[in-house]
Amino acid sequence: MQSNKLNAAVTAVGMYVPEKVLDNKYFESIIETNDEWIRTRTGISERRILENGATSDLAAGAIKDLLSSKNLSPEEIDVIIVATVTPDMFFPSTAALVQEKIGASNAWGFDLSAACSGFLFALQTGASLIESGKFKKVIVVGADKMSAIVDYTDRNTCILFGDAASAVLLEPTEDKNYGLIDSILRVDGNGKESLYMKGGGSLNPASEETIKNKMHYIYQDGKAVFKVAVKGMADVSVEMMDKHGLKGEDVAYLVPHQANLRIIDATASRMGVTKDKVMININKYGNTTAATIPLCLTEYYREGKVKKGDKLILAAFGAGYTWGSCYLVWSMD
Ligand code: COA
Repeated sequence: MQSNKLNAAVTAVGMYVPEKVLDNKYFESIIETNDEWIRTRTGISERRILENGATSDLAAGAIKDLLSSKNLSPEEIDVIIVATVTPDMFFPSTAALVQEKIGASNAWGFDLSAACSGFLFALQTGASLIESGKFKKVIVVGADKMSAIVDYTDRNTCILFGDAASAVLLEPTEDKNYGLIDSILRVDGNGKESLYMKGGGSLNPASEETIKNKMHYIYQDGKAVFKVAVKGMADVSVEMMDKHGLKGEDVAYLVPHQANLRIIDATASRMGVTKDKVMININKYGNTTAATIPLCLTEYYREGKVKKGDKLILAAFGAGYTWGSCYLVWSMD
């Protein structure tokens, strides 16, 4: 007997990027670096920075854009999941602040912390709420104000990150050919010291000492992360493709987390996906952590490059370590 299980389909998208641009030339004036090094080593030309406001403003901007694109009212939203590592504050959750900013008077919601894999973890979580049959409209938003935790004297990290938010709306579909088909997600705390922010939590509460020791900034061992990121993203994505009998040519797009163009190229090549089928916007926005994947989806969809029925493999790797791959079939015309 055919099960009447519901799939969660992406039925709207939205994005918000702040106006202020920091280009590579700017970094030449504050640290020992140059435009050529940044572009060839990372693929980044510029990134956006939010001058006034917080992560909830980015997230609210993306959701408002989504709602207006579909002519939806905020009262219709059932759930708001905010994937972020830069919450406005420990509590209340960024989701609560976003709820108020957009006027989603019938929603509940929460924050989800999985760093650069945050959007994928939140997408699976949101899809499960839809599949349960209990919730009809779930917003999943990836939002990060990375400039709040970047040390602009550390050339190893400060050139990499930017601020942005992007959101998708999940709604139920009974057509099993569309929506989130499958996900493979992983977490491994062995990576905890390769990419982290040491201070400010319950382990090292804020103190004069933690500030003096720069513990409220991102620390990253770039080389260590680079190696495991390629292997992690490629392994689960290949596993996903094998599981569903997909070859490189069947995939309309690989939608990778945008951390480094070289990581993306290496991942795509291991998956047998050609470069023309890889979504890229790292050149414009840098690494916006939980926002990168929905930002790609939104831009490519709005440019008319993604069509109904397209098979997409979403892949991410981030602090934790966290990583994963989602198989999504696009359901919007
Ligand atoms: N400008 C100029 N030189 C720089 C620099 C900068 N902004 N940042 C680092 N360098 C220097 C280093 O100091 C080093 O110099 P040294 O050899 O004299 O010590 C040299 O460039 C090479 O550094 P290295 O760390 O080997 O560079 P890399 O090619 O590995 O690139 C990253 C560095 C950070 C771009 C890269 O490692 C990376 O992208 N890592 C993974 C990021 C990621 O995926 N994160 C997970 C998701 S958030």
